[in-house]
Amino acid sequence: MNKTVLVTGGAGYIGSHACVELSEAGYDVIVVDNLSNSQMEAVRRVEQIIGKPLVFYQADVRDKPALSDIFQQHKIDAVIHFAGLKAVGESCQQPVAYYHNNNVSTLVLVETMAQFKVSHLVFSSSATVYGDPQSVPITEDFPLQATNPYGRTKLFIEDILRDLSQADVLNNAELPWKIALLRYFNPVGAHSSGLIGESPNGIPNNLMPYLSQVAIGKLEKLSVFGDDYATRDGTGVRDYIHVVDLAQGHVKALDYLLAKATDEGLCEAFNLGTGQGNSVLEMIETFQSVTGQMVNYQIVDRRPGDIAECYANTDLAEKKLGWKAQKNLHDMITDTWRWQTKNPNGYEEKL
Ligand code: NAD
Ligand code: UD1
Repeated sequence: MNKTVLVTGGAGYIGSHACVELSEAGYDVIVVDNLSNSQMEAVRRVEQIIGKPLVFYQADVRDKPALSDIFQQHKIDAVIHFAGLKAVGESCQQPVAYYHNNNVSTLVLVETMAQFKVSHLVFSSSATVYGDPQSVPITEDFPLQATNPYGRTKLFIEDILRDLSQADVLNNAELPWKIALLRYFNPVGAHSSGLIGESPNGIPNNLMPYLSQVAIGKLEKLSVFGDDYATRDGTGVRDYIHVVDLAQGHVKALDYLLAKATDEGLCEAFNLGTGQGNSVLEMIETFQSVTGQMVNYQIVDRRPGDIAECYANTDLAEKKLGWKAQKNLHDMITDTWRWQTKNPNGYEEKL
């Protein structure tokens, strides 16, 4: 019988791609999302790709009665917890909203899981928990640090989940937690169908959606934040990872947790990146050569809080999860551009 996985935040950018990969891997998927940063259209498009309906609940994960109802109605085997707020700048302006949404939702979720004896959890963490790393590539044992409220929510949640797992040892728990903390690097790209992708509200903060909106003429010019970093061309270097590779990483993490013996507890962190760093100028050049579109840009001052270089060592995920990113920068840009041109206004415009 298929295993059933509850996907919180499954209408969002990464969650929607994960629903497709989970379904294609034979999992039954249930989505809970309050649609605070997503649209129902994303769920319909996922259904179109997988060719069957998704069980969807519009609810806030912090709403304990609503969440309990879902656990009551379905026999859930595992949870992937994507739901959360993710904009760094906004988190500095509205820290309480971030701590409330991200941290309280996780507390309510783990309480409900414990109540219904569900012990398998995959959590969306971020490379932001490494702060400004001392060197690259980054391995999972690097020191953790947060530089803004958003990052602190991720770090707190990682700590909470590690504490839960530690408590299992002290309590000699019969059904210990099996937790994977997935630290994403920079997710980009879209599903190859062009049906689902990233649909940011307003002006994007991140490089790839900004770049593609300049290329399509929605935005006038890309600002390159600084060309005086100690990198090969002076611009910031990041580990861009295709969202479909990332989604498949969740399937592998779930398989890994579900294969453990019932009485084996664990809480392990994994980097999900490609292990390759690319600079902003390299991204622009590759974008231009892949799409044939010229991208108008200018060099401006550094963005406060940015770091020079960030890319992953992904050996642990390869060794333990049997996962390695398959798609290259060309694929990431081709798929971003297909999504952008087919959906110039994201989900606001139907195909
Ligand atoms: P997203 O905003 O597209 O998706 C998050 C989804 O969660 C949205 O559909 C939103 O409506 C929903 N949501 C938020 N709070 C909720 C709540 N309290 N109850 C129910 N639903 C709620 O973001 P994404 O890019 O898909 O990111 C998913 C997760 O991955 C987030 O936790 C994010 O912090 C993390 N992450 C994202 C990135 C990135 O660059 N996209 C990088 C590292 C980590
Ligand atoms: C951002 C988040 C980080 C999150 C990560 C992955 C910030 C400060 N940090 O980091 O918490 O984990 O996304 O989603 O928002 N750039 C430009 N011009 C732009 C946009 C970006 O030059 O208009 C540059 C940046 O300086 C950086 C690179 O492009 O060097 C990537 O930026 P971005 O996509 O915002 O991701 P991160 O800065 O890595």
